[in-house]
Amino acid sequence: MENYFYFICLESNIALLREEIKLFAPELKPSFSKKNFLTYKASQLPDYDFAFALEWGLNNDVSQESIENKLKCTQSEKIPEGAPSRAYLKIAEACQKYEINDPSLHWIEFGSAPGGASYYLCQNFHQVTGVDPAEMSPIVLNHEKFLHIKKPIQNLRPSDFDFKGYQFITSDLNLNPKQAIKEVLRCSQFFRSIQGIFMTVKIVKKDHVKHIPKFCQSFRNAGFKHIQKCQLPSHKQEFLIYASKQ
Ligand SMILES: C[S@@+](CC[C@H](N)C(=O)[O-])C[C@H]1O[C@@H](n2cnc3c(N)ncnc32)[C@H](O)[C@@H]1O
Repeated sequence: MENYFYFICLESNIALLREEIKLFAPELKPSFSKKNFLTYKASQLPDYDFAFALEWGLNNDVSQESIENKLKCTQSEKIPEGAPSRAYLKIAEACQKYEINDPSLHWIEFGSAPGGASYYLCQNFHQVTGVDPAEMSPIVLNHEKFLHIKKPIQNLRPSDFDFKGYQFITSDLNLNPKQAIKEVLRCSQFFRSIQGIFMTVKIVKKDHVKHIPKFCQSFRNAGFKHIQKCQLPSHKQEFLIYASKQ
């Protein structure tokens, strides 16, 4: 029997989601779509996490009301006053989604300037080190929990760190995905205590979509057992890989 499946995505990522479906779920046949609400016909959904869909599922009743309700549920919160950038929301949404909330955690952020995410991390966790050759906003730089390593990630060596007990990494680097993942995984080996990595993967070319499974595989090869990917409401042309050891 044919069913209708719906997908909700950010308007900026419609082309990326269509490409992802075409490559990894070719059995889905395009049907009705409206703005960032797409529907496809198929007998069943493949067992695949879509990197560019905020939400997806069975929807045999595609009414105007159900579309509006689903779109409302996916709207992002507002950036709080004082936060240096919208990246505050990305890390807040990621921590909420994956229930990362232990206040004793030590974080390291690659690509930390101007400091929206580090600002959130300082407010909610024990210690934060930001790595970025660019300037941090004073509100983060002067925070008692924050330490800045003002270098490009490629130049980092274990000797740059007095403290080696970091448990969580987050990365928001403006680098191509392959290089960013390679550098983040290289640096993750400096710290034995790493439990998880939030990796924002920036997809600037549609052609990068076909490499998504390879990006995820790199984390498996580095010893991370669980790899999940998702789209967060405050993302632009990007998605999140969450790699964890337990
Ligand atoms: C999207 S911004 C990060 C926003 C930041 N996470 C925040 O919360 O405000 C990307 C950052 O990556 C940094 N970046 C680019 N190449 C880098 C490299 N090779 N090493 C470290 N940081 C880099 C840029 O300087 C820039 O500040």
